Amino acid sequence: MLNTKVAELLNDQINKELYSAYLYLDFAIYYEEQALKGFANWYFVQAQEERDHAMLFLKYLQNNGCKVSLGAVAKPDKELKEYADPLKAGYEHEQYVTGLIHNIYEAAHEVKDFRTMQFLDWFVKEQGEEETNAEDMVKKFELYGFDARALYMLDSELGGRVYSAPSLVL
Ligand code: FEO
Repeated sequence: MLNTKVAELLNDQINKELYSAYLYLDFAIYYEEQALKGFANWYFVQAQEERDHAMLFLKYLQNNGCKVSLGAVAKPDKELKEYADPLKAGYEHEQYVTGLIHNIYEAAHEVKDFRTMQFLDWFVKEQGEEETNAEDMVKKFELYGFDARALYMLDSELGGRVYSAPSLVL
C-alpha cells in the first residue's frame, strides 16, 4: 500500500490527465473548424497521449493495491479566438502539469516512497519533452503563422504526427 497522501495525489492526477486529453480534444476541434487539419491532427494525437498518461496512473495505483476513484472531468475553458491561442494555452497547461508531477514527487520523497519516485521519473522526463514541444509550437507559429504559404506548410508538417504508445509499460 502507498502512503494516503501520495495515493490521493496519484488518483487526482488521473483526472488531471483526462482533463488534459479533453482540453487537447477541444483544441483539435477548434482547428478542424478552422480547416487547419494538421494542427487538429497534432492535438488529436496529443489527446491520445494524455489518455495514456491517465491509464498509467490508474494502473500504477491498482498494481499497488490502492482504490481508484474517478471524478468529473471539467469542461475545457480556454478562450480560443485566434490560431495562436491553443498553442499558448497548451504551453501554459504543460507547465502547470509539470508542477503537479513535481508536487507528487515531493510528497513521495517526503515519505521515502522510492517506488513512486521511480515511477514518476518517466513523467518528469516526459514533461520536459512536452514543455519543449509546446514551446516549439508557439515559436513556430510566431515565425511562420502569419504568412499563408508558410502556415500551409506548417499545417502539413503537423499533419504528419503519428501516435505512438508510451515507452512506459506497467
Ligand atoms: Fe500528461 Fe501533457 O501531460
